[in-house]
Amino acid sequence: MKEASYWIDTVNKTYQYPSITSNIETDILIIGAGMTGLSCAYHLTKYNKQVTVVEADTIGYGASGRSTGKLTAQHGPIYHMLIESIGLQQTKLHYQAQKQALFEIKTICKKHSIPIFNSDTMLYATTLQGKQCLQDEYQAYIDLQIPCSFIDHVSHIPNCIAALKMHGQATFHPYHFLQELSSIITKQQGVIYENSHVSQVLKQPDQTYAVTCNGYTIKANTVICATQVPIIDHGHLYVTKMQCEQEHIYAISNMMMPVCLQIDDQKYSFHTYEKTLLFVHNNHKSGIPYSSNTMPGYLDLKACTHHWSSSDYTTIDKLPFIGPIDKNNPHLLFASGYGKWGNTNGYFAGKLLCDYVMQQHSPYHSLYSPFRKLPYLSSAYLKENIQNMTNFLKGHLYFFDEELPQPLQGKKIRKNHHTYGAYREEDGTLYIVDITCPHLGCICNFNEIDKTWDCPCHGSRYSYKGDVVKGPTTSKLNTYTQSCNHIDPHIFEKR
Ligand code: FES
Repeated sequence: MKEASYWIDTVNKTYQYPSITSNIETDILIIGAGMTGLSCAYHLTKYNKQVTVVEADTIGYGASGRSTGKLTAQHGPIYHMLIESIGLQQTKLHYQAQKQALFEIKTICKKHSIPIFNSDTMLYATTLQGKQCLQDEYQAYIDLQIPCSFIDHVSHIPNCIAALKMHGQATFHPYHFLQELSSIITKQQGVIYENSHVSQVLKQPDQTYAVTCNGYTIKANTVICATQVPIIDHGHLYVTKMQCEQEHIYAISNMMMPVCLQIDDQKYSFHTYEKTLLFVHNNHKSGIPYSSNTMPGYLDLKACTHHWSSSDYTTIDKLPFIGPIDKNNPHLLFASGYGKWGNTNGYFAGKLLCDYVMQQHSPYHSLYSPFRKLPYLSSAYLKENIQNMTNFLKGHLYFFDEELPQPLQGKKIRKNHHTYGAYREEDGTLYIVDITCPHLGCICNFNEIDKTWDCPCHGSRYSYKGDVVKGPTTSKLNTYTQSCNHIDPHIFEKR
């Protein structure tokens, strides 16, 4: 079994792009080449806009290339809850956004011969409480006029007592899609740089932005942060308004199941792409060590070819943030908080960010506005932030021994009154890094699946060598021989 994304491992990287090697100027700079960044670049270049995309790694290598590959507007039993909190009309808008994204992705796939498979998707319950939730959701589908059917029993899903089907959805190969989309963007005169890491975004007196990328300066009129979570924040603390969760995905060959998601108990999710079953489970807070003891017995793990993990953010009200970072910066935009449904949400966010740049009014602006009122007194919000504070204290108060790790082992160690993370490669090479997260100072935990140091507070991730894998941080971890990490949250930068 490979510890790697099935999607990234099963499609050749057809398109390669250089890294940035000089100062440049561009009209619009997009940071991040996942679903959101490339969708935005695709739409903007259709308007002949001058667009540059910079990606810290390679295209689709982050959350987008690690998704489940489901293309659906069925994001768990959310619609009846949304009707309760934001009303029928606004919920309908949210559904329309997902439906439109699905339709457009299908159209692009068809036009450019990218494999996509039509399929119904299903929520299913194994408890009476879950069944009641599905019945409420079914009523919401009827109110929203979503094509659907309610099924009392599905024989081929173990323990299932009820299911709710959404018709006309799809599955696809997300990494293949992003590869092809990058090629379309460059044909539309967009410019893409890979392995180009942004470390700073500063507003200039002339209202343009100076972005530091691999040590070079990119001057841009508009900057779009498509980095899953904003790497700049201007004091709005967006990371505290979202919860970062991690899930584990297994690819199992020659096994078929319908596209379905269990809504109670373990929250198992299944989906078949060609003849491979993608099984998702064990949602847990990002950065908290993972235990795999809840795998269902009916899965043949000997046939498992790939295993990887993915993390994403969910906002307090379950709707994404899409729009300007703040009211003083209408040309500094971001999108985040897809609640682990980044294929349709990310594609739609890219399209809506394009509308912002083109100054086209959209009813979605207020629905997804980052400045909308949020339920700050909700238990989810309070629980998340109390837990982050606890994680911060725990990390600093717990002391680790000085014994170094064995080959292929990652371990926290204490040296010179400071906590470090040590990982030893198979050949014995040892890497010791300061695991105090440069974002806000929590102590990272080792992720055995991906061999990364993951922060339990707001989801930043680092390779065992200390390089940034995922924000909100923009700073790498220093090695043992360097000075300690500099805490640089990038949340109070100049407006
Ligand atoms: Fe915020 Fe690490 S991501 S402290």
